[in-house]
Amino acid sequence: MNVGGEHYRTIWLKPGDDRTVQIIDQRPLPHTFVIEDLASSDAMARAIKEMHLRGAGLIGAAAGWGMYLAALEAPQSSLEAFLGYLHEAGEKLKKTRPTAVNLEWAVDRQLREIASRAQTPAEGVQVARATAQAIADEDAEFCRRIGEHGVKIIEEIYEKKGDTVHILTHCNAGWLAFVDYGTATAPMYEAQKRGIPIHVWVDETRPRNQGARLTAWELVQQGVPHTVVADNVGGHLMQHGLVDLVITGADRVTRCGDVANKIGTYLKALAAADNGVPFYVALPSSTLDWSICDGVAEIPIEQRGEEEVKYIQGLHEGEVKRVLLTPPESPAANYGFDVTPARLVRGLITERGVAAASEAGLLELYPERR
Ligand code: MRU
Repeated sequence: MNVGGEHYRTIWLKPGDDRTVQIIDQRPLPHTFVIEDLASSDAMARAIKEMHLRGAGLIGAAAGWGMYLAALEAPQSSLEAFLGYLHEAGEKLKKTRPTAVNLEWAVDRQLREIASRAQTPAEGVQVARATAQAIADEDAEFCRRIGEHGVKIIEEIYEKKGDTVHILTHCNAGWLAFVDYGTATAPMYEAQKRGIPIHVWVDETRPRNQGARLTAWELVQQGVPHTVVADNVGGHLMQHGLVDLVITGADRVTRCGDVANKIGTYLKALAAADNGVPFYVALPSSTLDWSICDGVAEIPIEQRGEEEVKYIQGLHEGEVKRVLLTPPESPAANYGFDVTPARLVRGLITERGVAAASEAGLLELYPERR
């Protein structure tokens, strides 16, 4: 997508240096745009864990490139030693963040491809590079298609209403959370391209404020009308007919259609159900976890450090600063995600179309999983 008129993806191999991966460092956004070099699998693991980059699709792409960096570091003496190193690096990457399934999906895809296509470590490096690029390209293409499918929902509302479509979103499932386009935002960008008037309510998304900092910044870059609201405003907006549609992203969706997404999503889905507002979730198939059904019982929910809740970050006299919000001695709990049961989800917008949030609905779009 565009930043200051230039097209960027969120992750790429550094031009002229194929041992370094570059990312947009999301920590100083929206105030400063920084590109960071990552030249080892450990550096990539740290960048994922400490959230220099984040978002389900991008974490998957980063794991793909992390495995390529691991392949460059791995012993080249024998295929066995090479694969052993890659397995260890894959385990390290998988441990960085537990909820978004894209991470383990990408590591496992790399290990499968390398094991089945490489006869030597040198070939392994080439396979790892091609696979990392394929994961990233596929993520971008799938998000583009999600936009094409999702825009039909916006179009339909616009045709009935004949006026601006108000869409509420939570967290950042925009292009910063993927390689390009985003998931929840892709239908919005497509609507904008087609001249459908939209306005986006952006939940601030405490504690890390991915909505206020990242989604709002993206929408500014793309010129999409939006308003940032505190997390608890959504229910009020819905009661007053100010939301036509909710679209969020997802970090893991079970085969039965339960959705793990950023903490607070479940409350938005409850408010949407109570007010008859359609609640959609947009995701690429790399976010589907076919091995589980009951999301509440089976999806691991990341708990992060309490400082993210106790402190807030912002710009003060030109400098990005963190300030303490709570009494210093108050403990805080920091649950990163919650699970929205399938019954509250009107539909899952995927790269293959919109599925009902159920096993039958997903299998109709992905019959190869039967
Ligand atoms: O903790 P994060 O920022 O990596 O959380 C992931 C998310 O951005 C959201 O949950 C998002 O809505 C879905 S992932 C694109």
